[in-house]
Amino acid sequence: MDLLEAIRSYRPCRQFQAKPVPPEKLKNVLAAARLAPSQNNLQPWRFVVVQDDEVKRRLAQACVRGKVVAEAPVVVVAFSVEEDIPVTVGGYISAYPLDVAAAVQNLQLAATAEGLGSAWMVDFHEDKVRSVLGVPEGIHPLAIVPVGFSAEPNGGGRPPSEGRKSPDEIIAYNAYPW
Ligand SMILES: Cc1cc2nc3c(=O)[nH]c(=O)nc-3n(C[C@H](O)[C@H](O)[C@H](O)COP(=O)(O)O)c2cc1C
Repeated sequence: MDLLEAIRSYRPCRQFQAKPVPPEKLKNVLAAARLAPSQNNLQPWRFVVVQDDEVKRRLAQACVRGKVVAEAPVVVVAFSVEEDIPVTVGGYISAYPLDVAAAVQNLQLAATAEGLGSAWMVDFHEDKVRSVLGVPEGIHPLAIVPVGFSAEPNGGGRPPSEGRKSPDEIIAYNAYPW
């Protein structure tokens, strides 16, 4: 699957088959996350891959709608490392949410290309995630990403995401017109 096809066919997956993710596919998905660009190549990300059912169950309890986390065969939790994140974007904020988002997007597009479903979740309780995974100070969870084979009808072949703003609403040339 080429990149544009992966971008167009990605849909958040809400239901997974119990079927395990082949290790080679998981390896490719994590490799894509690792290869993401980051500000100054600081790579301020860490990933915890959860496959243990009991840990997934507890992680699901740390989420507002955690059913999908408990059911997915693999759950990747993406973290940022505080000490790696100086203020750099225009001199007013840190780039780390951008860096970690680039890695998560790489991960999800690679998963799509591997025929896997995934979802990006942020509605979790930070303190509970920290406690379940034993996360030290200075490390912050930014995304919980369940990964697996979709159980939804026509999983990878569903229509592209709808409800996007039109190009005219979001793209302009030479000046900011809004
Ligand atoms: C940064 C980010 C955070 C998200 N957090 C959640 C979430 O916590 N729970 C959830 O169900 N979906 C989450 N999503 C998925 C979005 O809700 C979804 O991509 C959006 O509604 C568009 O849906 P569509 O791609 O099916 O059109 C998140 C997506 C992004 C990019």
